[in-house]
Amino acid sequence: MATSPAPTAPPCQKLFISYAREDTDWLEKFLPYFKPAERSGALDIWWDRRIPSGADWGPILDKEIGDATAALVLVSVNLLNSNFILERELPAIHEQRRTRNLQLYWIPVTVVGEEVLQTLGLFGINAATPCEPSKPLADMEDRERELAIVAVCNQVLRDLKSGRVGRLSQEKRDDILGGALARLREKVELAADAPIAYGDFSIVSRGQMQGRDVAIKVLAESPFREHNSEFEERVKKALSLDDACFLKLRHCELGEEHQILVSDYTDAPTLAQYLARTGKPFPPSWVTRLIQRLALAIQEYHRHGLRYGLLASHNVFYDEHASPEPILRLQAIAISSHLSQSDDTPGRFPRDAAEATYLVPEQYEGKPYTELSDQYGIGLIALEMLEGRPPVTVTRLADLEEKRRFYEDPEQFAGSWKRDQSRLRSVIFRMLQKDPSQRFTQLADVHQALAHLEPADVVLAKKSYSRVCAGKTEFYAAFYQQFFARCPEAVAMFGNLKMEDQYAKLDAALHYLLNFADMDMTEPTALTHIALRHARLQITGKQFNDFAEALLETLRHFGEAQAVEAWERTIRPGVQYLKLRSAMAKK
Ligand code: HEM
Repeated sequence: MATSPAPTAPPCQKLFISYAREDTDWLEKFLPYFKPAERSGALDIWWDRRIPSGADWGPILDKEIGDATAALVLVSVNLLNSNFILERELPAIHEQRRTRNLQLYWIPVTVVGEEVLQTLGLFGINAATPCEPSKPLADMEDRERELAIVAVCNQVLRDLKSGRVGRLSQEKRDDILGGALARLREKVELAADAPIAYGDFSIVSRGQMQGRDVAIKVLAESPFREHNSEFEERVKKALSLDDACFLKLRHCELGEEHQILVSDYTDAPTLAQYLARTGKPFPPSWVTRLIQRLALAIQEYHRHGLRYGLLASHNVFYDEHASPEPILRLQAIAISSHLSQSDDTPGRFPRDAAEATYLVPEQYEGKPYTELSDQYGIGLIALEMLEGRPPVTVTRLADLEEKRRFYEDPEQFAGSWKRDQSRLRSVIFRMLQKDPSQRFTQLADVHQALAHLEPADVVLAKKSYSRVCAGKTEFYAAFYQQFFARCPEAVAMFGNLKMEDQYAKLDAALHYLLNFADMDMTEPTALTHIALRHARLQITGKQFNDFAEALLETLRHFGEAQAVEAWERTIRPGVQYLKLRSAMAKK
């Protein structure tokens, strides 16, 4: 009987793992996740245990790296101990990445500084999400670490399986970027630095346009071939957006093969990076203000006939230093957001784990994405800020079940903040209603609802007083240290007072300042006699200011930075009154 030829096996993808011998324990945490793919024959994993003893390592490694589709590098300072890794293995990986589109994933295992990354040739290359050089695996809690390892392994497997790996070599990317920049230079005054990032569809370079820092995004391959006109329509509308929350779109080139978007550049961290760095949630009062502002911006977006789409902590930037106050910033056009809400395919499956994590209920059920879906997206971001992490992170399909439970009863997923924040809670969970018709009718209503519950400065300052000042002698001692450093002449004035008396007087001073707004201002007021006493002591306006500054600085030292502005606004009228009233008395 003639035998039919064996069916051709699907091409096997090869993953090369580079790690230091001292980090073998780390390697072993990753391997089990690759086992099923390895067993099925879809993946061949290579790491140095497979080198037969006595063999010549160099040529073997060159061949293995040459055959690999992807490389996973476990990064710790231990890599520096191996000349072989430094001089042969990593350079070979980089070379293959440059010339043959080898996909590189690197994972910070322990803390590594910029210099180490430079030495390893990894500086400027993003670590595999969700890892960050500032938060290596070794610094994570057990569960968080496990989730990060799972997320990386899943991403590697998904990329290898989908064939996304190696779509675009570095040379090809340089080519596309070079061509796009040449096109731009004919039209706008532009200086481009090196590329800073590349995603699935785009290459981003930093540059200056008319003296302004800009990000130049070139779409390597339009993901919207069939929806190109819809995309162009959106970009044109976004050009006229003026809200400060949006990184302004300055210029675009749409007609050509590689579309180009030039927009303002920010070096602010994304919310995800900020949360990972600080390791703690945002205070509810900050969330209230930031979300209130964001709701207004997205409302503006809607007014331009646009819907935002995927709002995720990795595509929202937290600009802590914005003036006059911190703000959340968004790209005016984000490719992933556009893809997440395509009109034609409402039931489309999420593109990746990140998109699944931020999926809104109507998308889960295959219904269209609407303006009300954006409201849900903002609610999710708010909850993530309050919790310090997304309520449900999807890394496996099984997590979608958890997502569904979240849609049904999001309050179950909220932590301790909701105890003291009943009004904020009611706003956020109304935004997170599964049924869109139960949400706020429009984002202006969200803005309005949040404006009403923003805690008054005095309430915030008083809460902060009970936290760190009331009865805390170390606070009073630290205040006097600050105050005397600014105003040395005060040392002698307090010289003959016992410590407890000094503290009691400061406490009385804080009470007057915190309750100034409630004081009956018909002269003589409760503060008139204090003002007269200070006039007799010849206290000057500058010394009153020193007092106020010393107080604010001490609050910062005691971890109350978030309440300092509220304190400042609360005590300003009382300090001003004392300055004026005692100056009058001196005359
Ligand atoms: C806005 C700022 C200030 C407030 C609200 C304030 C308030 C007070 C209060 C309530 C007392 C206690 C009075 C009492 O025992 O009945 C006091 C005492 C005192 N303050 Fe101030 N003070 C301020 C700034 C200053 C500054 C800038 C100085 C010195 C440069 C100063 C020097 C003193 C001294 C030496 C005493 C103790 C002597 C006394 O009780 O007559 N104060 N202050």
